[in-house]
Amino acid sequence: MAKAIVVYGSTTGNTETLSKSVGEGLKDSGVEVLVKNAARVTSEELKDYDGIILGCSTWGDGELQDDFISFEEEMGKISLEGKKAACFGPGDSAYPQFCKAVDVLENKMKECGAEIVIDSLKIDGDVESELEKVKDWGKRIGQMIE
Ligand SMILES: Cc1cc2nc3c(=O)[nH]c(=O)nc-3n(C[C@H](O)[C@H](O)[C@H](O)COP(=O)(O)O)c2cc1C
Repeated sequence: MAKAIVVYGSTTGNTETLSKSVGEGLKDSGVEVLVKNAARVTSEELKDYDGIILGCSTWGDGELQDDFISFEEEMGKISLEGKKAACFGPGDSAYPQFCKAVDVLENKMKECGAEIVIDSLKIDGDVESELEKVKDWGKRIGQMIE
């Protein structure tokens, strides 16, 4: 059975909520999945998974959520060759740097050699109304990493 990890950084809980739906979608497609806060994940741990899904909200003026800042730095340039990856996050299009954290992480995964298997998912504003769509996005990723 393929294994995936969903790593999230979330200050007010929105990315955490989205992560659970991504995880449900992955499970529905038959993938074993772990959903974990970035503050408790080491970059080395990523090597144990076939699929790596990163979820992060954007703060300040286009910055990564706090728990992701040190995680992203720690990732350095570890090799994630052969890994399937995807990135998502909530944001607010009232800010000039809408969901910038998602773009930063997508570039990071590419730098590390992972293959981005699906367009990144950016959720504008309220997340609760988008959970079915998010679950479906997770399911599609699962179908690509089985
Ligand atoms: C002070 C502040 C700065 C923010 N900056 C941005 C930003 O630059 N770009 C963006 O898309 N959203 C921005 N947001 C919106 C958050 O990313 C959004 O509320 C998100 O849902 C929070 O997710 P979380 O609860 O998982 O941390 C900002 C919110 C606040 C309160």
